[in-house]
Amino acid sequence: MLASMKIIVLSASPNTDGLTAACARAAVQSANGAGAEAHEVRINDAGIGMCKACGNGWGTCQEEHRCKEEDGFQAVHRSIAEADAVVLVTPVYWGEMSESAKACTDRLRRCEATAGEKSRLKDKPFIAVAAAGGSGNGLVSCLASMERLIQHVGGRRFDMIAVNRWNREFKMRAIEQSTGAMARELSLG
Ligand SMILES: Cc1cc2nc3c(=O)[nH]c(=O)nc-3n(C[C@H](O)[C@H](O)[C@H](O)COP(=O)(O)O)c2cc1C
Repeated sequence: MLASMKIIVLSASPNTDGLTAACARAAVQSANGAGAEAHEVRINDAGIGMCKACGNGWGTCQEEHRCKEEDGFQAVHRSIAEADAVVLVTPVYWGEMSESAKACTDRLRRCEATAGEKSRLKDKPFIAVAAAGGSGNGLVSCLASMERLIQHVGGRRFDMIAVNRWNREFKMRAIEQSTGAMARELSLG
């Protein structure tokens, strides 16, 4: 039997019962339903500190493609590298990714963007989900920042999904359909 494809769903809200959590749950359920092996990693619970910009701006990330700051980042980095695809769900804070999403992805970007063609995320599909539960402002700038991240690490933008209070119901279905389609595509090779 073929090994199932691994999909990591990174969620980046302190709220365990909000919009971000609902989006992450929809992604996990749909990916698992399509035969993948999906699990959620709550970045806020992972003990990931911010990048220290070692030295004059670059540390081991530049040459060794690893972060020397030992904390929760290493385990999450390993899981992301081992995954076949990534779903990143963040609440929109001030038109940007949440602080925890930024802390994790800043360090991930440094380690993988510097590896170029050898990035462990090279050509891996990503689904980016920005969840703006307030005014709905800042979705575009948040997704733009997620798009840059995916480009920098060499990933493939499978989908970019903007969720707000008014479109929540049908965007939840979009997340399910998109994640299911990505899982099926992976399983077909
Ligand atoms: C510090 C902060 C900044 C926020 N900035 C925005 C914003 O720019 N645009 C928006 O639509 N909602 C904004 N919100 C609302 C969140 O996007 C909304 O509460 C979202 O649903 C949070 O995700 P959660 O349900 O997982 O907590 C902000 C919330 C916080 C706490």
